[in-house]
Amino acid sequence: MTTTQILIVSVGAVCLLAAVAAFVIAYRRGGEKTIDWRSALSKETLAADVSEAGAPLLTAPAQPESEPIEEQVEALEEAPPEVEPLVAVSVAEVQRVEEISPEEAGVTRRQFFNRALLATWGGYLGLMGISMLAFMWPKLSGGFGSKVDAGSVEDIRAQVFLPDGSVQPLFIPDARAYIMPFDEVAGPQFEGKGVVAGGLTALWQKCVHLGCRVPWCASSQGFECPCHGSKYNFVGEYQAGPAPRNLDRFVVEVTADGRFIIDTGSVIQTPRATVKTVAYPQGPNCVAIGG
Ligand code: FES
Repeated sequence: MTTTQILIVSVGAVCLLAAVAAFVIAYRRGGEKTIDWRSALSKETLAADVSEAGAPLLTAPAQPESEPIEEQVEALEEAPPEVEPLVAVSVAEVQRVEEISPEEAGVTRRQFFNRALLATWGGYLGLMGISMLAFMWPKLSGGFGSKVDAGSVEDIRAQVFLPDGSVQPLFIPDARAYIMPFDEVAGPQFEGKGVVAGGLTALWQKCVHLGCRVPWCASSQGFECPCHGSKYNFVGEYQAGPAPRNLDRFVVEVTADGRFIIDTGSVIQTPRATVKTVAYPQGPNCVAIGG
């Protein structure tokens, strides 16, 4: 699984865990305290309800003083027949409301979503921090940035030396490096830097001018950059073009059991070689410019 795939899976896992954690917290809070619909009411509403409930529901009408019997009989005889009045009955529902604290009310839906959002953001930021640390931290085993086992020295030498006396590079993808023969150390810029082991050296494929990948040119027996025409002989010494120095190279070693190890975490830069170790070009160039 690649680093990108691990990163994507990790992001998904953290977000899922954050959402589950927020849900579990909300569920447990809700289980401890029964959620009442009244918790959604504001304090002002509760106070208004209590005030209305305490007020008298119906007020009894005042009783008029009774008139003498004779006057009542006269009034009945003179008065038109009355229609029985309709009686409106209003029913007031009395609600008994107890004011409760937010803790007793449990977790509201808004609180739940706020906490879920915070948990998700926290998980996301934590994962970003871990990813940045992982990016900056040197790899402990395998891949570019660590020590790469390129194979046995004997096998490598058999591949880089051709029967006709010429040489060819052995490219190691994990190290992004060309392994080249380097039996002689001509200049002081290579001494004591650990860039030669078992008669071999490991050149970084990246051009030291602007970083293009520098291909091998078999006819000239050198490396020629197609971008701006920088040229290097087969041990990576500067020959021509805008490159400011020799090709960069890695610290190398041969283990007790004959393995050629390239330490791609240790890059060695050297100035343009004034004395060349090998002749260049040994035939037609592949790149015309810069020479
Ligand atoms: S990048 Fe190679 S010469 Fe410019």
